[in-house]
Amino acid sequence: MTRKILVTSALPYANGAIHLGHLVEYIQTDIWVRFQKMRGHECWYVCADDTHGTPIMLRAEAEGITPETLIERVQGEHARDFSGFHIGFDNYYTTHSDETRRCANEIYARLQAAGLIETRVIEQYYDPLKQMFLPDRFIKGECPKCGAHDQYGDNCESCGAAYTANDLKNPYSAVSGARPELRQSEHYFFKLSDPRCQTFLRRWTQAEGRLQSEAANKLQEWLGAEGENHLTDWDISRDAPYFGFEIPGAPGKYFYVWLDAPIGYMGAFRNLCDRQGLDFDEYWRPGSATELYHFIGKDILYFHALFWPAELEHAGYRTPSKVFAHGFLTVDGAKMSKSRGTFITAESYLAQGLDPEWLRYYYAAKLSSSMEDIDLNLDDFIARVNSDMVGKFVNIASRSAGFVVKHFAGQLCTCDESLPAIQAIRDRRALIADHYEARDFGKAIREIMALTDLANQYVDSVKPWELARQAGRESELQAACSNALNLFRLFAILLKPVLPALSARAEAFLNVAPFVWEDSATVLAAGHAINAYRHLMTRVDRKLVEALVEANRESRAPLPQAAPQKHAEQQEKAAVVAVAQAAVATAAGPHVSLDDFMRIDLRIARISEAAHVDGADKLVRLLLDIGPLGSRQVFAGIKAAYDPAALVGRLTVMVANLAPRKMKFGMSEGMVLAASDPDGQAPGIFLLAPDAGAAPGMRVK
Ligand code: MSP
Ligand code: ZN
Repeated sequence: MTRKILVTSALPYANGAIHLGHLVEYIQTDIWVRFQKMRGHECWYVCADDTHGTPIMLRAEAEGITPETLIERVQGEHARDFSGFHIGFDNYYTTHSDETRRCANEIYARLQAAGLIETRVIEQYYDPLKQMFLPDRFIKGECPKCGAHDQYGDNCESCGAAYTANDLKNPYSAVSGARPELRQSEHYFFKLSDPRCQTFLRRWTQAEGRLQSEAANKLQEWLGAEGENHLTDWDISRDAPYFGFEIPGAPGKYFYVWLDAPIGYMGAFRNLCDRQGLDFDEYWRPGSATELYHFIGKDILYFHALFWPAELEHAGYRTPSKVFAHGFLTVDGAKMSKSRGTFITAESYLAQGLDPEWLRYYYAAKLSSSMEDIDLNLDDFIARVNSDMVGKFVNIASRSAGFVVKHFAGQLCTCDESLPAIQAIRDRRALIADHYEARDFGKAIREIMALTDLANQYVDSVKPWELARQAGRESELQAACSNALNLFRLFAILLKPVLPALSARAEAFLNVAPFVWEDSATVLAAGHAINAYRHLMTRVDRKLVEALVEANRESRAPLPQAAPQKHAEQQEKAAVVAVAQAAVATAAGPHVSLDDFMRIDLRIARISEAAHVDGADKLVRLLLDIGPLGSRQVFAGIKAAYDPAALVGRLTVMVANLAPRKMKFGMSEGMVLAASDPDGQAPGIFLLAPDAGAAPGMRVK
């Protein structure tokens, strides 16, 4: 029976690069989808960029571009990275779309009609300087438990305590440094505490096979015992300024990004339906016979197993068939780290010339259906790829194909189907399919590799390379090579969900139609002619991996708020805040220590080049000479005030140890200092200049 399946991966935020941690999820999902397609099922894989929210709004502001421009650029980068790793989305869309907006409005209207939306006035921190309400992660202060300074508004990195921003002592805005004020505002809530939601979720989350057992247990904890009401209403609105969808009938109020993000799955699918003539309702109506699966990381289980099904159920849509959560990636046993160079971007992996299918294979070998973290051990990565993929799999073809082309004009003879290796593949292929279906890719790979051992024993026993040197043994040679190539073909079929590009190269040289799963039950007919062998895969060179880590190592001294050795997540959080801080001209804020100030490396710089930047309305590209420290490229938002030609030769002041930032136009490796009036009363931008006698490279303090 042909199944109809809709599959999603979580929508990556539109303000960061795809890294190897993300790829665990997209590779896992892609393998599963490719497997389903090979089985002949109708399977659609959609995803999108998650484009709304405060961090994205502030980042765009910091870059001097509109959020629309930012999200368009990032979507392009994400799509490029994903296709580089052969992630075969049927649609990679954006949440900032008409389709998503219409679905969001529809769901909201239906929840409202069901009496599940309520407004309430809440008190929240407001940044009087920046004139906006502050999300918890943009408020810092002293930990209410241990008193540690500079802690975020959600939890303390020093003692681990969790709290809300309102509990922080001496809070300040991480965006502007201003002291936030508590202000009242009307917010919209989804009434998760309503008995209808509670009853539904209790039943839904505990349904057999719906969630992994670890996930079901977590949900049980969150829901509490029968009769207890653990769920609180969910705040789904944010006040302007906000980048998102304005709530119908509520001017100045926007849907919180997590409200429209999962709806982005629907939006992306709706867009696909319109282009492909598919029936959207067939997939989303209650009681639909189609299947819906969400692949996610364990960090966003709460959103996908509570809020999302409750919304769908009460808005009159079907709910997900299953939610598949995976664990987090560690590299060499530790969280990804910028200082160690293990916070590796997808882009750098490809740019350094590593084969994306090495990573696909390695992840597959490590993945299971559980929520356990998975470790990318770089030594093990090199060893496994080289021994399994090249040594055991590709070698079968490279050791036999040449003889067939050279001696037999590419023609195969009858395959001996009684060979133990062929028999074993016939025995095991259903089990391997079960492992793929169950997302136990590690088990599937182990089975397949055990089968390649049998195949290699066969090749080693018949030794085609010796037969080729002996006169009169042509038919033995042809038989040996035909058997070997048939074995290789079977492995290429079984591994195709994991290695789509390599399998495509195999299809081309074997001269066959694209493999489907059932091909693993057959062999090539006698007389079938293959094409010349095409190179399939090279070994991993350790130097490549070392260069990759080096390229991702953040070597420059970190800024005050990004202490070294922080976990990747914390670094991301710090980076978001750093960008936000760059977005505003800070007025008087809390004091910094002299040490803090001294960590900022200010230098006299001579502008050696200045040029307009194509496509940027505010930026000028500067090349700055800082004497013994070399030269730096910086993009400065000073176009309105300065003609580039007039800048060349001038001295100014730059921040020389600002973390380099990749912009659409190239790397920005620092910042020049300029004055401006935060209120815009006295318009203009005024570059700083030193007194006569200062020379490039001198430190400013
Ligand atoms: N935008 C939200 C998801 C909205 S879904 C409606 C989000 N974005 S994210 O970019 O932070 O993460 C996207 C996915 O990648 C999530 O499922 C997340 O769990 C996963 N991963 C991000 N970092 C990861 C690792 N280091 N390891 C494994 N998966 C990781 O969350
Ligand atoms: Zn603390």
